[in-house]
Amino acid sequence: MFPIHRNRRLRTNESIRSLVRETTISPNDFMFPMFIAEGKGVEVPLGSMPGLFRRSIDLTVKEVKELWSLGIKAVNIYVKVDDSLKDNAGTEAWNKNGLMQQAIRAIKDAVPGMIVMPDVALDPYSIYGHDGIIKNGDIANDETVEALVKMAISHAEAGADFVAPSDMMDGRVIRLREGLDTAGYQNVGIMSYSAKYASSFYGPFRDALDSAPKESGIEIPKDKKTYQMDYANRIEAIKEALHDVEEGADIVMVKPGMAYLDIVREVKNAVNVPVAVYQVSGEYAMVKAAAERGWLDHDRIMIEQLHCIKRAGADIISTYFAKEAAILLNK
Ligand code: PBG
Repeated sequence: MFPIHRNRRLRTNESIRSLVRETTISPNDFMFPMFIAEGKGVEVPLGSMPGLFRRSIDLTVKEVKELWSLGIKAVNIYVKVDDSLKDNAGTEAWNKNGLMQQAIRAIKDAVPGMIVMPDVALDPYSIYGHDGIIKNGDIANDETVEALVKMAISHAEAGADFVAPSDMMDGRVIRLREGLDTAGYQNVGIMSYSAKYASSFYGPFRDALDSAPKESGIEIPKDKKTYQMDYANRIEAIKEALHDVEEGADIVMVKPGMAYLDIVREVKNAVNVPVAVYQVSGEYAMVKAAAERGWLDHDRIMIEQLHCIKRAGADIISTYFAKEAAILLNK
């Protein structure tokens, strides 16, 4: 009680503030999402994600070496394949020599210590831009899960350390675990996008991969609301995370980040596995756009947001700021 307690004593100067600081961030906390393109020497700037590129495998490997030297220990991999390789079943997704599989191999060859977590979902391979197989106007859950198992096994064969299902089908984690184990990949982990919301914050990502749900001749859902979660819901996120842990997820993820930090804390309190948070493309784009206009201080906002995500309960942060933040933190 005042005047015995004066809380400002612990804020007097940076030395005391740093002694009592509850949350610190370091490059060890970050995963860097990377977009892979076909070809060689290809580097396409992403319009709605300034500073980021879709790169061919050779240039991706170069970038991964740099990330490693900055102290970043994990990357999330997303691919953009040619439209001619897309179909409803996502068949290209488990091509042993597909772009994803080649990228995993190349990265693991070049930087064996880097944890490689390929995205497991059919949208980059789907003619409809959906995360699953369309049947009778809906996304067929169980057929999709079987496709995801084939996909994940092909990632494991290529050398992935973890697979990261982002599709939100029911029961995919247990089926992935069983599939990986049966194929002899007991040591390949699962980071599940457990509480993934149907969010408009994913817009720039879908631009980057041209993976948004598409208009088509047949009757299909125009958005992802029948599998991704309703942003109005909180308790459901805990249910999803608990189910995934039961099904064998090694890490659970909440996505998006900043607008969902209440969910991050709830999930963190509910589970006994590490919690990852994905600060998604729209969050990145907002900071970049405001900073470009001189409306926000880019670096300070970036570092503040990363602290806040960690404080909310993130053990790992998947962020497009990983490289820039690492450079700043290493200074
Ligand atoms: C694909 C996937 C998406 C993101 C990660 N994996 C898009 C979506 O679900 O439509 C979004 C990431 C971001 O916005 O940064 N399943």
